[in-house]
Amino acid sequence: MSGSTKAPTLRLDRLLANLGYGSRREVGLLARAGLIVIDGAPIADADRRVAVTADLSARMTVDGEPLDPPPGLALMLHKPLGVTCSHKEAGPLIYGLLPERWRRRDPALSTIGRLDKETSGLILLTDDGALLHRVISPRSKVAKRYQVSLDRPLKGDEVAIFSSGTLVLDGEDKPLLPVEMQVHDGTRAAVTLHEGRYHQVRRMFAAVGNHVVALHRDRIGGLELPETLDPSGHRILQPQEVARLFEGHDADTPAVKSA
Ligand code: URA
Repeated sequence: MSGSTKAPTLRLDRLLANLGYGSRREVGLLARAGLIVIDGAPIADADRRVAVTADLSARMTVDGEPLDPPPGLALMLHKPLGVTCSHKEAGPLIYGLLPERWRRRDPALSTIGRLDKETSGLILLTDDGALLHRVISPRSKVAKRYQVSLDRPLKGDEVAIFSSGTLVLDGEDKPLLPVEMQVHDGTRAAVTLHEGRYHQVRRMFAAVGNHVVALHRDRIGGLELPETLDPSGHRILQPQEVARLFEGHDADTPAVKSA
């Protein structure tokens, strides 16, 4: 990307204001103080246009720290239990787990879909509206895998019921798309969904007379939550990881840690 003639350009004060560093006037003061450095040289003039290339954070510092990631940011976060995927609800929010300045970004970071407050695991965030829509669009067929722990033993007919494509959830009239299920043991299983209805996994198991006691998402498309990413941690996605979201997963779906 470095030096690409196609990279969009932005005035320095606009770029940094959009990344949450302060108002344009405040950014102007930072520049005049010599605190904004590109390719080793301080930029005193905040009117100057800069090419917003993917490598800008490696080439630019603000007050001695690498520039925050420019727009086009996509990240994974290991959602812990008890936080909400919302910008405005009461209680701890997922955005509170990110660097404080990132909450002032424009375009804003949003979660790609949601997990319930009491569901843990892989959640993606981005400021790229096109990526967000591509991941959630039913046409993209991005599958999501959940590890489920149940209150009561499985009866044995759940795999057939969930894969039938005929199960209708309470209060709905359209049957669910077929769901893949791998049984780990009497009360634990993985399910892979190809759509995302409200509280879908909990309602599916309620429909067969069971109750979900723990729910954890560990894969979206071909992208797994790394074991090295602790709860509450996040990591910026590389372009090849974003591409993995849209990779088929049929060959390796059964991640059965069977008993
Ligand atoms: N299904 C649920 O019931 N909850 C989630 O958070 C995700 C899928």
